[in-house]
This record gives sequence, structure tokens and C-alpha cells, in this order.
Amino acid sequence: MQKETLPGIKQFDLTGRMAIVTGGSKGLGLAMAAGLASAGANLMLVNRNADEGARAAEELARDFGVRATSFSADITNLADTEAMAKAALDTFGQIDILINSAGINIRGAIDEVTPDDFNNVFNVNVNGTWLASRAVVPHMKQRGRGSIINLASTLGLVGLANRTPYTASKGAIVNMTRALAIELAPFNINVNAICPGPFLTEMNAPIADTPEAKNFVVGATVLGRWGLLREIQGAAIFLASDAASYMVGSMLTVDGGWTAR
Ligand SMILES: NC(=O)c1ccc[n+]([C@@H]2O[C@H](COP(=O)([O-])OP(=O)(O)OC[C@H]3O[C@@H](n4cnc5c(N)ncnc54)[C@H](OP(=O)(O)O)[C@@H]3O)[C@@H](O)[C@H]2O)c1
Repeated sequence: MQKETLPGIKQFDLTGRMAIVTGGSKGLGLAMAAGLASAGANLMLVNRNADEGARAAEELARDFGVRATSFSADITNLADTEAMAKAALDTFGQIDILINSAGINIRGAIDEVTPDDFNNVFNVNVNGTWLASRAVVPHMKQRGRGSIINLASTLGLVGLANRTPYTASKGAIVNMTRALAIELAPFNINVNAICPGPFLTEMNAPIADTPEAKNFVVGATVLGRWGLLREIQGAAIFLASDAASYMVGSMLTVDGGWTAR
């Protein structure tokens, strides 16, 4: 029988940790950033629209009493992702957590979406996640610790009609997460993914009131409803914290039961 002190809830404390959250200006990224801030983490929110990022960071700093900055970057751009990591280190001196939440979705039948649509979705969701991770890994390796949390999706685990660019990109994130988790575990960097079900963010605004959402998106969940933004926070806090130290390449579903059946 192992004998060890059991720290319980203290394992979720993120005081003194620093997190970069891409896509942190709105939607799930902002909700997860607020979750980390509520557990004590300092933040750098990363997105393209500088004003929206700055506003969100100000709000989090005010609401949670943490240090929060924003950085304007396009995660599909190598130089931007490297500048992102440098800015975080210049300001905070450390990067403990990276949440890769920036993402886009372009819907349509395969003969309606264009090759450019496919490439754009893949570029932001897959290349962007890869580039942002690549930018922080040297520091995390040197520091001997780190957590990377990728936003996959239920649509990385199951299919849905008229979503070929998005499902392909999220499936790629699922397996990139596993590969990177195996690669970085020896450096004490844990890599996992959250697979959210449907949340009513700007990304889903175009389908919010459609029969498709009612029948096949929200309708696919056991709970029969959109997720609430607060309902994504626990998974993010958990995977960012010491409580997740035995989690390697996991897909944590927060999907109202979509993939339970
Ligand atoms: N909402 C859902 O139901 C759902 C379900 C499963 C998975 N997810 C995943 O969860 C993540 C967040 O989704 P969400 O619903 O919160 O989306 P959202 O509300 O549309 O927010 C997307 C965020 O990504 C940023 N972004 C987009 N392209 C970027 C780029 N090239 N470089 C840097 N930042 C970029 C946006 O800011 P700027 O436009 O200013 O750059 C924004 O902050 C995505 O990966 C999404 O696929 C969402």
C-alpha cells in the first residue's frame, strides 16, 4: 500500500501559475481563462483582435485580482506564435499552462465548401495548435514542468454531416494530443484535450435557432441542451492543475452525454 499525504482540493490551486490561453478573448477560451483566474493563475490571452483581447484581460484582472495581459497574434503564423511565447516570458518570466482554444468552423456539404475553406479550418485548428504548442515547449522543457490543453471536440470523436473540414481538424487534434503527450511526458509536461459538446458561443451563432441544431447538435446530447459556459471551466482547471498529473493524452469529454451513446 502506497503511503503518501493526500492534498485533496489543494491540488487544484493555480496560485502563482501562468497560463497562455489562445482564443481567450471570447467564448470557451474566455470562460476557461476565467476558470484558471478563479483558481489563482495569471494570464495572457491571445487572439487577433487586439481591442477585444485587451478588454477581456482587463475584466479578468479586475474580477479575479490576478495579472492578466493580452497579446495580438495569428496562431497560424510562426513568427506570431514565437513572439507570443517571448511576450509571456518577458512579462511573467514563466509559462506553466497553454490552452489551445483558438479555432474556427466552416460548415457545408463537401461539394459546397471550397478547398480554401478546408485549408483555412485546418490551418487555424491544426497548424495553429501545433505552432502555439511548439512555441512554448522549449521553455516548458527547460523548466521541467508544464500543461498543454488542446480543444478538440465531440466532432473529433464522432462524425456529423456537413462538417468535413471541422471534423477532420478535430480528429487531427485528438491524435496530435496523444502523440505529443507521449513525447512530452518524460519532461513532466502533460498534454491532454477537452472534447466539448455544443456551447452557444459566437462559433455556433449561425446555427443557434436552426432545426439542425435542435435535431442533430443540441439534440445529440443526452441532456438535450447547450452547455453553459461555466460547465467547461472545471475540466480546464483540472487539466491545468497538479490534480491531473497522471493524465497523459486523455480526451476529457464535456458534451452533455453526446458520446455516451
Ligand atoms: N462552441 C462549441 O460548441 C465548441 C464545441 C467543441 C469544440 N469547440 C472548440 O473550442 C474552441 C473555442 O471555441 P469557441 O466556441 O469559444 O469559439 P469562438 O467563440 O468563435 O472564439 C474563437 C476564438 O479564437 C480566436 N481565433 C480565431 N482564429 C484565430 C487565429 N487565427 N489566431 C488567433 N486567434 C484566433 C478568436 O479571436 P479573434 O477572432 O480575435 O482572433 C476567438 O478568441 C475552438 O477550438 C472550437 O473548435 C467549441
